[in-house]
Amino acid sequence: MAKIITVAHQKGGVGKSTLTLNLGLLFQAKLKTAIIDTDLQGSLIDLKNINLTVLNNIPADEIPLMDFDLILIDTPPYLSDILRELLLISDFVLVPSKAGFFDAMAIHSTLGLINDAMSKNGNLKSGIVLNMIKNSSSITSEVKCLFNNSSTPLLNTMIHDRVSFTRSPMTGGILNSDDDRAIEEIYLLAEEILNKIK
Ligand SMILES: Nc1ncnc2c1ncn2[C@@H]1O[C@H](COP(=O)(O)OP(=O)(O)OP(=O)(O)O)[C@@H](O)[C@H]1O
Ligand SMILES: [Mg+2]
Repeated sequence: MAKIITVAHQKGGVGKSTLTLNLGLLFQAKLKTAIIDTDLQGSLIDLKNINLTVLNNIPADEIPLMDFDLILIDTPPYLSDILRELLLISDFVLVPSKAGFFDAMAIHSTLGLINDAMSKNGNLKSGIVLNMIKNSSSITSEVKCLFNNSSTPLLNTMIHDRVSFTRSPMTGGILNSDDDRAIEEIYLLAEEILNKIK
């Protein structure tokens, strides 16, 4: 059965699609990987020149039966019944967030939905990844405390604000860039997630 990773956060612009794309391109080097784009506003599905299977309109109950090793699901910036269904078939839910006070407050209803799904899906693991970090020294213990959540932990990997990430949908993904630090961050994130679901 395919391992399923859903990327979710009700807040827009936190990097769901950017991370889904770059994780997908990385995973496919080793695993038969597909991205499912459930954002009707279109985003990943619109990408041309990307050497990766991107699909949409797949009912949640059919996703686990698809012939892939790993499926990444990008979701829109709101909570929905579809997201609830996706969490019931997922092995991992990744919640990207910026690292501010209001960002930490805005994450709570997404985490509530995840908690609810975990009570029904014993397989589901989760993690928050801080994205668009401007300066590592700004990630103080105070900030970490804001994101301290028993059921959805803060991942060790943090993704910095890098032009290479902004450009990545247009340049064939971060692995195609010469930004070694960005590439390392995506590798570390992928590894951290895989370790939690293997
Ligand atoms: N680590 C990063 N460094 C620099 N820019 C980033 C980074 N992550 C995301 N971005 C940029 O931030 C913007 C929002 O990212 P993205 O579209 O991936 O967010 P999203 O959560 O999918 O948004 P939506 O909920 O509206 O679909 C984009 O312009 C993207 O290029
Ligand atoms: Mg998006």
